[in-house]
Amino acid sequence: MMQESMLSARRSPPSQEEDDGDDESKIRKHAFLAARISMHARLASASHCLAVSLSLLLLLLVASFFLSRSRPVICVPAYDSIARTTLFEASLEGLASDFGSLGVPWCRSKHGKTVEWTTKDLLKGLEEFVPIYETRPIKNNMYGMGFDHSFGLWFMARWLKPDLMIESGAFKGHSTWVLRQAMPGTRIISLSPRHPEKYLKKGPAYVDANCTYFSGKDFLDFGSVDWGNVMRKHGISDLSRVLVFFDDHQNELKRLKQALKAGFRHLIFEDNYDTGTGDHYSLRQICDQFYIRGGGHSCFKDSDEARIRMKRKRFWEKAVDVDVLCGEGEAWWGVKGYMRDDFNHSNKAISYAEHFQNSRFVESVLDVYWELPPVAGPSLTHQTRYDPSRAPDPIVEDGTYGLFRRLGLARLETSVFNGYTQMVYLQISAPTS
Ligand SMILES: C[S@@+](CC[C@H](N)C(=O)[O-])C[C@H]1O[C@@H](n2cnc3c(N)ncnc32)[C@H](O)[C@@H]1O
Repeated sequence: MMQESMLSARRSPPSQEEDDGDDESKIRKHAFLAARISMHARLASASHCLAVSLSLLLLLLVASFFLSRSRPVICVPAYDSIARTTLFEASLEGLASDFGSLGVPWCRSKHGKTVEWTTKDLLKGLEEFVPIYETRPIKNNMYGMGFDHSFGLWFMARWLKPDLMIESGAFKGHSTWVLRQAMPGTRIISLSPRHPEKYLKKGPAYVDANCTYFSGKDFLDFGSVDWGNVMRKHGISDLSRVLVFFDDHQNELKRLKQALKAGFRHLIFEDNYDTGTGDHYSLRQICDQFYIRGGGHSCFKDSDEARIRMKRKRFWEKAVDVDVLCGEGEAWWGVKGYMRDDFNHSNKAISYAEHFQNSRFVESVLDVYWELPPVAGPSLTHQTRYDPSRAPDPIVEDGTYGLFRRLGLARLETSVFNGYTQMVYLQISAPTS
C-alpha cells in the first residue's frame, strides 16, 4: 500500500530553461543540430544526397514547429494538401477554430438551470491543478483518465465539497487519487471488480487510506448496493451532500435510474461518448435529438453534414463519418442504432421511438447538465483524437500559447490531452410529471 505522505510529495517544477519555452533557443538548437548532422555525413563520406535530404527534413521540422505555434492552427499532416486547403478555407471564414461547428448536443434541464462556476473559475482552477497533477502516482494511465477529465473531476469535487464521494470504476486508482487531492479529509467509497492494490505488483497504483473498497470478493455493482444501509453506516443523512462519479462503462441511462432510485443528486459521468462512438449508451447520445442544435442526423450520403463529416475523419481519429454513424435501416442513434452496455459486452438494438422516449425521461429528471469543455485547443495540446466540431469551446482557446504556458500546461506531455470524451456533471431530482 502506498503511503499518503509519499503521494503528497510534489515533484519540483522544471528549471527555468526547461520551462520558459523560448522559441528562439529551440530554433538555434535545431540549426546547430542540422550543421552537426551534415558535417558528420561528410566525414563519414556518406553521399551528398543524404546530407541534403537530412537538412531538408530538419528544415521541415523547424518550419512545422513554428507553424504549430502560430494561429490559427489545427493539427494537420503537412503532406495532406486537401487538409491544408480546408484549414485555410476555415480560417478565411473567420473561424477562430472548429469548435462546435457540427453542433454540440446537450441535454435540456427542467428549468434551464446551469452551474455556478465560470470560465474564470476554471482558469484559476487549472493554474492550481497543474502542479498537483504533476505529482500523480500513476504517470501512464492508459485506459484511465487523462489530464482534461482529471482536472474536471478535481475541480467539481472541490467546488461541490461533498460529505462523501462514491466512485464506480477505479482501475489502478488514479481517479481515487484525484478525488483525494480535491477533498483531503472526505470519505470515499470505491466500487471496482479488481482491487487497485492488485495492480501494485506490476507498477504504480493508488490505494487510499480513507476509502471503503467494494472490490475483489467484496465487489458489488452500484445497482446492487443497499445504499440506504451504506449511507447510514457512513453517517450520511442528506444525500444531496454526496457526489457520485461513474467511470465504469455501463449504460448511463441504467446508472441514472439507479442513482435516482437511491436518492443521489450529484453525478459525474467520465465517458460521455458522442453518437457513433464508445462502448456504452451515454447522456450525450441520449440527448442527440432533432430538436437540439447539432442533434439528430441523416444517413443521406449526399448531404452537407455527410461531406463535412467525411473531411473531418482525415484530421481526427474519433471523428465519425456517415459510414461509421449509420447502421442497418439508417439507424444512427446510440452506436448504429444500438444501446451499448458494460464495455459493449452487451448491446441491444433500439428503435428511434425508444431512443426518443429515453431523452424525454432524462429531461424529466435533469436539473443541471454541464459538459466539461476541453482544457485547451488542439493547436496547443496537439491532441489528435476528439473532433473539435463536436466539442464545446475549450477553456484555453487556440492561439493563446502565452496563457497555455503561464498555466503550466506546456510542461505536460502531449499524450495526457488525448482522452477527452465530454465528461458531464448532472444534478438530478425525481421526475416531474
Ligand atoms: C476506465 S476504467 C476506470 C479508470 C479510472 N477511473 C481512472 O481514472 O484511472 C474502468 C474500470 O471499471 C471497472 N468495472 C467494470 N465493471 C464495473 C462495474 N460493474 N462496476 C464498477 N466498476 C466496473 C473495470 O474493472 C475498470 O477498472
